[in-house]
Amino acid sequence: MCAEINTKYLNEIRKRKTFAIISHPDAGKTTLTEKFLLFGGAIQVAGAVKSNKIKKYATSDFMEIERQRGISVATSVMSFEYNKMLINLLDTPGHKDFAEDTYRTLTAVDSVVLVIDSVNGVEEQTRRLMEVCRMRDTPVIVFINKMDRDGKNRFDLLEEIENELKISLHPMTWPINSGKDFKGVYNLHDKSLVLFAAHSKGSGEGVVSFEDLSNPELDKIIGDRDASQLREDVELLDGVYGPLKIEDYLSGKIAPVFFGSAVNNFGVKELLDTFIQIAPTPRDRETTLRPVHVWEPKFSGFIFKIHANLDPKHRDRIAFLRVCSGKFERNKYFHHVRINKDVRFSAPYSFLAREKEVVDEAFAGDVVGLFDTGNFKIGDTLTEGENFYFTGIPSFSPEIFKEVVNKDPMRTKQLEKGLSQLTDEGVAQLFTQFGGNKKIIGCVGELQFEVIQYRLLHEYGASVQLNNIPFYKACWLTSKDPKKLQDFVRFKSSNIAKDKDGHLVYLAQSEWFLNTERTNNPDIEFHFTSEIHK
Ligand code: G4P
Repeated sequence: MCAEINTKYLNEIRKRKTFAIISHPDAGKTTLTEKFLLFGGAIQVAGAVKSNKIKKYATSDFMEIERQRGISVATSVMSFEYNKMLINLLDTPGHKDFAEDTYRTLTAVDSVVLVIDSVNGVEEQTRRLMEVCRMRDTPVIVFINKMDRDGKNRFDLLEEIENELKISLHPMTWPINSGKDFKGVYNLHDKSLVLFAAHSKGSGEGVVSFEDLSNPELDKIIGDRDASQLREDVELLDGVYGPLKIEDYLSGKIAPVFFGSAVNNFGVKELLDTFIQIAPTPRDRETTLRPVHVWEPKFSGFIFKIHANLDPKHRDRIAFLRVCSGKFERNKYFHHVRINKDVRFSAPYSFLAREKEVVDEAFAGDVVGLFDTGNFKIGDTLTEGENFYFTGIPSFSPEIFKEVVNKDPMRTKQLEKGLSQLTDEGVAQLFTQFGGNKKIIGCVGELQFEVIQYRLLHEYGASVQLNNIPFYKACWLTSKDPKKLQDFVRFKSSNIAKDKDGHLVYLAQSEWFLNTERTNNPDIEFHFTSEIHK
């Protein structure tokens, strides 16, 4: 019986690919998402859809502020089928102020597609996202977008990406020019020429097979100059790269690269087809107790994201659960490890296309939305009874800090509840000054403070003033020598705070202060990230 169930689970798991598309804002993430959804039949919008239109479809607009600003502040999930595979695409907010949301979403995926704008090359947000991918050795496929615009020299671009993102690349396709001279890409692996047509249907039209590039037909199709350039480039590339070793991609050492133009649906099918072939199916995960294998029959999963305010009139939250093993079932009791209670869900839902559908079961790799009335926080684990937490879910050092000043003492309780719940959701981090009562909120971007202030007022009736505090980073402190740590905390008490879980942090005024303290205190470790569960 057990073996039979396992085979069923294995078959389900092998069908699934859970990933995220990440990019610096405006590189083309939304446009690429839309094309993937079109290929997957999840949307049926003919022709080029304006990206801001699809933003409404492809990302959630749970929060009023998101509608006001037209920025996706939320993360949502889109599931669709393609070539008999079930794809779970986790969307990430493009806005840098919500970067922490994106970082966390990356803990719930098995691979990523990184979009880079061929004109702008590597940008700030790309660098940071890649750092997070490297922390977890997440397999990455790179899509160099906007080849229809005059971009950087392609060799220079590859070098820039390799140097700045500290990853080795492996071109899968190779572009013939860019901008108005862009003629298409040569597929280095199946040795075919894919000719560029604006707004292509991506259905294979304009594909010419070229087993041997010395074939004079090539000159006829793309012209003598470009043909000889392509021959030269391909010879060089074949010499340098050779065939792709899938295991190097899967271990996060090498990133395959595709060139294309998302808005023209060009090069997207090649990317998606290769993704389907090589991207990892759900992977085993570490916990505080033991590794959990995806094929284990017993269910386990963790919360990586909490969304508030589906309907602004209600205070519901939706907790996003990533299933890691076994089968999640509707109405079945599962063990909520942190609060040590058994809980069940009568209306969990999955995210097929843009529709939310109640699901009866879900398998490893799937993401399920659970209605939550305040029982969950990021990193919570559900099991069938075992007590462990999934590890590798980090908190990152905030970059802007503000002191919370209560403007309405009559609403102190509501304020505390609001702060506690909002920080459970991961909207911001809450610190309490050491030895005092001062509450400090840390965020990655200014916009998050506006979200917090807005939500405290609208959801909790708590009016606050947020005063700037000139801190630059929060570093979690550890030391093998408890006495040294104690002394440091005592001497530096005005810079010391505790996070929500009671861990000590050092709030540095500047990089200079931080470096000085590091040099003066070699027995103390300063960490820029903190694992929610170790
Ligand atoms: P994001 O989600 O990463 O922020 O980027 P998004 O897809 O919204 O794309 C940003 C802009 O880049 C959009 O233009 C989009 O149409 C354009 N774009 C995407 N792919 C390509 C491409 O391959 N070539 C060219 N030339 N442009 C591309 P926009 O003017 O901001 O919006 P819209 O008016 O086109 O909707």
